[in-house]
Amino acid sequence: MPDFLQIEHIRKTFPGVIALDDVSFSVTGGEIHTLLGENGAGKSTLMNVLTGLYHPDRGEIRIDGQKVGFTSPRDSLSCGIGMVHQHFMLVPAHSVFENILLALDNVPNLFNRKEYRARIKQLIDQFGLDLDLDSPVWKLSIGAQQWIELIKLLMRDCRLLILDEPTAVLTPQEADRLFSVLQQLKQQGKSIIFISHKMREVMQISDRVTILKKGHSIATLERGSFDENRLASLMIGTDQIPEWQKNLQMSEEIVLEIQGLSVRNDRGLSDLDSFDLKLKKGEILGIAGVAGNGQKALAEVLTGLKSASQGRIMAKDKDITHSDAKKAYIAGIAHIPEDRKSIGIAPDMSVDENLIMKSFRNGAFSHWIFQDKKAIRRNAAEKIDQFAIKTGPDGSPVRYLSGGNIQKVIIARELSEKPAVLVALYPTRGLDIGSAEYVHKVIADGADRGMSTILIAEDLDELLKLSDRIAVMFRGQLVGYVDPRNTTREEIGLMMSGEKQGVAG
Ligand SMILES: Nc1ncnc2c1ncn2[C@@H]1O[C@H](COP(=O)(O)OP(=O)(O)OP(=O)(O)O)[C@@H](O)[C@H]1O
Ligand SMILES: [Mg+2]
Repeated sequence: MPDFLQIEHIRKTFPGVIALDDVSFSVTGGEIHTLLGENGAGKSTLMNVLTGLYHPDRGEIRIDGQKVGFTSPRDSLSCGIGMVHQHFMLVPAHSVFENILLALDNVPNLFNRKEYRARIKQLIDQFGLDLDLDSPVWKLSIGAQQWIELIKLLMRDCRLLILDEPTAVLTPQEADRLFSVLQQLKQQGKSIIFISHKMREVMQISDRVTILKKGHSIATLERGSFDENRLASLMIGTDQIPEWQKNLQMSEEIVLEIQGLSVRNDRGLSDLDSFDLKLKKGEILGIAGVAGNGQKALAEVLTGLKSASQGRIMAKDKDITHSDAKKAYIAGIAHIPEDRKSIGIAPDMSVDENLIMKSFRNGAFSHWIFQDKKAIRRNAAEKIDQFAIKTGPDGSPVRYLSGGNIQKVIIARELSEKPAVLVALYPTRGLDIGSAEYVHKVIADGADRGMSTILIAEDLDELLKLSDRIAVMFRGQLVGYVDPRNTTREEIGLMMSGEKQGVAG
């Protein structure tokens, strides 16, 4: 098939930043084309150019050989290009049906509701989606909300669908479902631009892969001519992957004990239901479970975002369930896409300021009421270097950073206070390979110093590699513990589905 979309020599700069220097690639009808690159390489910016949100400084976009100039997402939509955004643009109180109608341009005033319902229903059936048209959006899982965004684009007959890290917020099961839908769409001749940091997914789904590095398209490879190693080495180039080793000497001292903890959600159901957990000093305790079994509530109740309706959180012998001491004892890091607001960055403040937000009272960064600008800058320079954070010019706000780089700012900040206990909720989602390794190293080094970590992750490989023990959660309860050196993926899988018990703590 001929290329239907051609992108040539695109350049896009922001004050003090060259986001895209020289990017060219093309998309043919009926292909899944993956964009791969480190955090800050320019993937999202390129997609914003392609959907008319940003105007390029230089370069050309051609559709069916015709040069086009987009000035808004409306222009690109009318050329058949649509994007599923990482942050869904849905009205939570409205139903699924109403949200889809809202997105359509030419719905007549007295439109025939039945006809539109039937067309949407047909799409839902065709792809075997689990979606109730009359349910309000706020009741739906993230995965279901993503289906709505996709249906909106299909109702508008888009020929090119752009998905920017769609699987970062999905469970592995939901991701598999998405992939089978994408395959079906491809069979129908639709084109897909797919962005992900997960190599397994990239290998599974891509017909072609274009690698972006520091704003340049450095290679496009066809299926069959790449494997994970080749992609990784092109992407990383001469950058170093941090190395680390885990110290396996764990003390038996219990630093945190959770007893019979229950947490209810907004719908009055129990997210945590008489949950128990024991965390040892210097331990990395992995928490395995299918997302939605209480992991988020666990992280939130420990870091003070939610309160418990029953049970206790004990720090050594002290009850900290409802006390302010909890904040000083437990720090938390979370991955970004699920809910940017709950993880506490100040998007309009600079990177430097965000990096000291937890320590503004400790004296190191202020004299009396005056901020010590030099110390703040020195601290930031150090963290930016350690975590390889890609920032814009000094003083520019955090919200301009790429998704993965915002994530790194949060991690760097939360770890700078040297907490006794760290709660990490999906900490490496959205991070490129090198950055994910660096986070692993930081957690492992922390354990050497005696920091204890509760590591909540979906990726079993990540849990098996990093954890001293793994606790499995199911329906808000602790199923049991396993020893990562003495278990199998199958055993953990059975426990995750509630079919097998583990060892009691
Ligand atoms: N509106 C903006 N203003 C200033 N700089 C920006 C803006 N948008 C993006 N940038 C910068 O452009 C560069 C590329 O960012 P982009 O978001 O495209 O990266 P990405 O490849 O999507 O990374 P990630 O994998 O972390 O999502 C970054 O250095 C970022 O800080
Ligand atoms: Mg991005």
